[in-house]
Amino acid sequence: MKKFLDLISEEMQNAFGAAGYDASLGKVTLSNRPDLCEYQCNGAMAGAKLYKKAPLMIARDVAEKCGGSQVFASVEAAAPGFLNIKLREAFVAGYLNHMGTSPKFGLEMPEKPMKIIVDYGGANVAKSLHVGHLRSAIIGESVKRIARYAGYEVIGDIHMGDWGLQIGLVITELQERDPSLPYFDESFQGEYPTKAPFTIAELGEIYPTASEKSKADEAYKERALEATTKLQKGVRGYRALWRHIMDVSVPDLKKNYHSLQVDFDLWKGESDVQELIPGMVEYMKKEGYAYYSDGALVVDVKEETDTKEIPPCMILKSDGASLYFTTDLATIVERMEDYHPDKIIYLTDKRQELYFEQMFRCARKTKLVVPETELLHIGFGTMNGKDGKPFKTRQGGVMSLSLLVKEINDEMYRKITENRQMEEQEASDIAKVVALSAIKYGDLSNQASKDYIFDIDKFTSFEGDTGPYILYTIVRIKSILSKIREQGGSLEGAAIREAGSLAEKGLMLELAGFNSMMESACQESAPHKVCAFIYSLANAFNRFYHETKIVSEEDAEKKSGWIALLILTRDILETCIDVLGFAAPERM
Ligand code: ARG
Repeated sequence: MKKFLDLISEEMQNAFGAAGYDASLGKVTLSNRPDLCEYQCNGAMAGAKLYKKAPLMIARDVAEKCGGSQVFASVEAAAPGFLNIKLREAFVAGYLNHMGTSPKFGLEMPEKPMKIIVDYGGANVAKSLHVGHLRSAIIGESVKRIARYAGYEVIGDIHMGDWGLQIGLVITELQERDPSLPYFDESFQGEYPTKAPFTIAELGEIYPTASEKSKADEAYKERALEATTKLQKGVRGYRALWRHIMDVSVPDLKKNYHSLQVDFDLWKGESDVQELIPGMVEYMKKEGYAYYSDGALVVDVKEETDTKEIPPCMILKSDGASLYFTTDLATIVERMEDYHPDKIIYLTDKRQELYFEQMFRCARKTKLVVPETELLHIGFGTMNGKDGKPFKTRQGGVMSLSLLVKEINDEMYRKITENRQMEEQEASDIAKVVALSAIKYGDLSNQASKDYIFDIDKFTSFEGDTGPYILYTIVRIKSILSKIREQGGSLEGAAIREAGSLAEKGLMLELAGFNSMMESACQESAPHKVCAFIYSLANAFNRFYHETKIVSEEDAEKKSGWIALLILTRDILETCIDVLGFAAPERM
């Protein structure tokens, strides 16, 4: 169905036309003086030049033509030439009822749904997940869900880092600790053990140890690099160790992501495109895109219009090892072959901006992508602590994801059980649901590219622009509805009625904006728009709630209209939090 603001603009355009002016001047926007009007049109000001006439005169002519409108309750011309608009209650109620009975509240589906791959999460196997990966997972999951809701075909891929130096480091450290393992015996012909020579907990310790050592010890680092190359070249024992690392880490990653309600359609990684690399490299050489420079194979990607230095893409190191560029480009080859996506969206820290610029240029120059396929990098800012520095544990160490989640869960549990009796299990279940909303909303409500401060006290608060506040509002609506059900009242079939108060109309106008909000959140891959929308929707609902006695209302028609309004508010709020990647409990 048509977007609310478009309908209103159409009506205003007709009025401009009827008054003898260019109809396109009649674009309507939200009012920036809500004390005076609900919507406004500034077209008369733009028309003044065109018609060499005072804007106020034009506005008056147009206002006069709005008399019999089914959309406008009043249109006033105000100096110097504004048109201040209020809408008819019946028009607003009719629109909402139409939304309530339409699939996806009347959100228009694309004529030709694009196929989009969202590359997010990006966990590195063998390293534990840290808060840096949290943003990629949270934002990517929401970007994926929004696009899917808006009618696109979306595939989410974790694109694990499972082929790089971190694996070489782990292998080197394992050899250091036990060189007698069969994996390091090049003459070994037998079957390798099926069980990994380490647990997930040990792996969590092996990598940081190896990483530290490699920073201090050049020879150790050399060995790790060599181990990485050997793995990539296919040395049997190294491949077997790599398999063990994958078998131990991936289930753990899956568990972690699942608890964050982050679910990937594809669990692919850098290692999956190994077979494609030799062919891609040959092609790049044959077509003259790639050349050797100091032993390494590179592709130039600078352009004449560049204002800063854009270095070439390194495709192979001088020892033949592949790099981050190599696997990402080969992954593009694979994705084009398997899925022919119209768009690929990558979510990483914005420090990788230059890298993606180079990589995209290389993919275009070497024609790995067709020109129609859009490549988009969404670079996000850093999650900082209250001190403005990257978020740390209380002790000052690097914060792991599981530790962070635990801290928020504990804080939420404390808040939920404060001054109240609740069974422990229920309290802890609710705490987890609410904690997830605190973490995700705290992140998503900021524009992704900005750094933000992870403030546990603020994010877990039941008041203000927070996840728990939104959930609290939803739970409040659910509890009113269940009280009405307990009274024997019916929730079925009611229609929203004309608003009887300013607060009620305010709520209705917020709801009517759902479609255009969702459309732009999708086009701009901008979850923060969904957050801003539900925050003002929740505020509008609470204003209405505080001045309206819904449950005890005796006028049955009035009451059933409110029930319908409550149901629509609940459903829209729940739809929005679902695309943000969290859910509401039944009570809290
Ligand atoms: N593993 C990478 C990291 O931790 C992120 C991967 C992002 N995706 C990609 N296709 N490069 O930085």
